[in-house]
Formats: sequence, structure tokens, C-alpha cells
Amino acid sequence: MDSTIRVPEGLEGVVVAETGISEIDAGMGRLSYRGMPIEEVAERFRRWEDLVPWLVHGVDLDAEISNPTPSTSAVSAGLPIVQVIQCVLSGNAVWPFPDRETEIAWLTGIPAVVVGELPQRHTSAAAAYLTGLRHGRPPSLIEEKTLNAYWIIAAEHSLNASTYAVRVAASTGTSLPLALTAGLATLAGPLHGGAPEGVLALLQEAAGVEDLDAWLTEKVERGERLMGFGHRVYRTGDPRAAALRDMFRHLADQSDAVRHAAAVEEACLQVLKRLKPQRPLATNVEFYAAAVLQGLKIPPEWCPATFALARLAGYTAHYYEQRARGRLIRPLALYRPQ
Ligand code: ACO
Repeated sequence: MDSTIRVPEGLEGVVVAETGISEIDAGMGRLSYRGMPIEEVAERFRRWEDLVPWLVHGVDLDAEISNPTPSTSAVSAGLPIVQVIQCVLSGNAVWPFPDRETEIAWLTGIPAVVVGELPQRHTSAAAAYLTGLRHGRPPSLIEEKTLNAYWIIAAEHSLNASTYAVRVAASTGTSLPLALTAGLATLAGPLHGGAPEGVLALLQEAAGVEDLDAWLTEKVERGERLMGFGHRVYRTGDPRAAALRDMFRHLADQSDAVRHAAAVEEACLQVLKRLKPQRPLATNVEFYAAAVLQGLKIPPEWCPATFALARLAGYTAHYYEQRARGRLIRPLALYRPQ
């Protein structure tokens, strides 16, 4: 990356999105919602709750709003994240922390508390977490070691979507626990922390398939994405994938699961190479993260929460870095009537 590029710390003047929701004309001192001057809006709507459907969904003013039913899988994937959020929020009662020790004890105690364990009773947060998830049955040493290694690898990854959300919250001067919840809420989506569930589905479906190549070819030709492959930033391969592959082999040791994951990975890479020659598509972190979490017998709906617990560390680091900047992040939007 060119080190001479000037980074506008508060994103001043940087257009980061197009929006049809509102427009500020700073020079003329005007504001409009969905193309309607604010004075007219104030006349048209009497109650805030009457404005909400129009502002939120942009539907015709007189049309009925139908409530979309959220998909069951998205909701179930989010639930353990909600438990993590509740734990994190408890820290708001003691914010600001009297000293660093108290803060770190709070942060590192969260994995245990999320599953109803006492941190002090266990050798590591990972052991407490696995014990709680398994209703009191402690993990083996290799399982404990594996989760620790996964959490270390997953603890930080620069300015991904959820970390950016934490930094935006931090830039307003809010507390650490509240800023962390902004990150957790962002992480919960299937395009981010929810990705391992898609990999598990791929591995499960592939188990009953005789001709993997033909099956995968059909998927990609239909326009489907093979979960666990490709990356927005990495081109030659995701370094975390290699580390997790080794970890998985060690954990599952010569088992059918290792052979199956390796066979599916190889078949996916071959198909992607043949059908998308213009784009190098390598195994990403999610493929073996899913395999490792499955090897640890973590229920699929707990995968995003397990990832989130690790990332609390990176979020907290970004929180303080952003607070030290002391600059509010407030970008601009380019108004385009729709
Ligand atoms: N399977 C099949 N084709 C793919 C895949 C994939 N996994 N990834 C990219 N492609 C293809 C696209 O179809 C496109 O092909 P085309 O030019 O013929 O239309 C081409 O590669 C470029 O795709 P983009 O969407 O521009 O690539 P981008 O860099 O935006 O995507 C992403 C990165 C979102 C990760 C993508 O590779 C993907 O969807 N992967 C599957 C989901 C996944 O594993 N997500 C976890 C990522 S790791 C992480 O976030 C922690």
C-alpha cells in the first residue's frame, strides 16, 4: 500500500455510500427526507410513528407495510450473539474500569459467563466455554488447546465490517461495552461471522455425493458461491486457512472428517480453477474454521458467537486506538433521487 496516501482520520469529505433517504444541502441550509423538504414532512406527518414506515422502507405513503418474516436460520444464528451482547453490556455498569486489571478480567471472563460458568474454576477461558457448552463435561487437553489457538488466530483482522462499526461507535466517545455491542451486532450477519454455517452445510451435503466434481461444477455454473473460498483482500491465499488446516488435522487425527474435508477442499479448488480462471480463488479462513468448530462439537448456531468472543480482543484494541484519535467519524453520502 502507498504510504504517502493521506488518511482522513474522521473520513471528512469522503463519500462512502449513495443514499435516497435524506439530503443535506449544507450551503443552502436545507434538509429533505426522500426528496420532501423537512417543512413539508413536518406538516404531512403528525406522529413520529406515522413517519417511520415511509422513512424506513420508502414505500408509497398510503400503501400498507407488510412485515417481512425473518428467516429462521438467520434468527437462530443471531441468538447466541445476543447472549454475548448481554454479557458485554453488563460491563457498562462498571465503566470506566478502575484499572486495566479489572478491565482485562471482565473481558476475558466473558466466554465463561456466556455459558454460565465461573472463570476462576477453569484453566482457560476456552476450557470454561467448552465445559459450559457441554453442560459441565470438561474438554480434553487437545480440544482446549485447539480452541485457544483458533481464538488467537481469530482475535483480530484489521478493518473488517464489524471492527469498523466498533471504531465508528468509539469515535462518538461512547463506552467500551456499548461500542463492542455495535461490533457484535455487525458480526452476526451471514456475510461476516455467520459464514461457517454455510461451510458446514456444504460439507454435510457433500457427504452424500458420489461425483463431487460434477456436483460442484453444477453449483458454480448456477451462480452459487462455494462457501469458504475466495477473499476480498487476499489473492494468493489466506494465511489463517493454512494454520487452521493443520489444527484440524491434529484435532481430528486421520479421521474420516479430515479425509472428507480435504477431499471437498481439493474438489472445490479444482472446480474454481477451471470455471473461474480469471480470478485466483483460494481456501479462506472460514472453511477450516467451520471444520475445527465442528471437530470441537460446537453447535452450528454457536459458531458466530464463538468467533465473536475471540474478536472482542481486536475490537477493544481498535476501540482504544480510535479513542486516542479523538476524531468523530462522520462521512458524507452522495444524494441520488430514486
Ligand atoms: N465461489 C464461486 N465463485 C466465486 C467465489 C466462490 N466462493 N468467490 C468469488 N467467486 C467468483 C465470482 O462469482 C466472480 O465471478 P465472475 O467474475 O465470473 O462473476 C469472481 O469470482 C469475483 O467475485 P467478487 O464478488 O468480485 O469477489 P469479492 O472479492 O467481492 O468476494 C468474497 C470476496 C465475498 C469472500 C467471495 O469470494 C465469496 O463470496 N466467497 C464465499 C463466501 C465466503 O467464504 N465468505 C467468507 C470470506 S472470509 C471472511 O470474511 C472472514
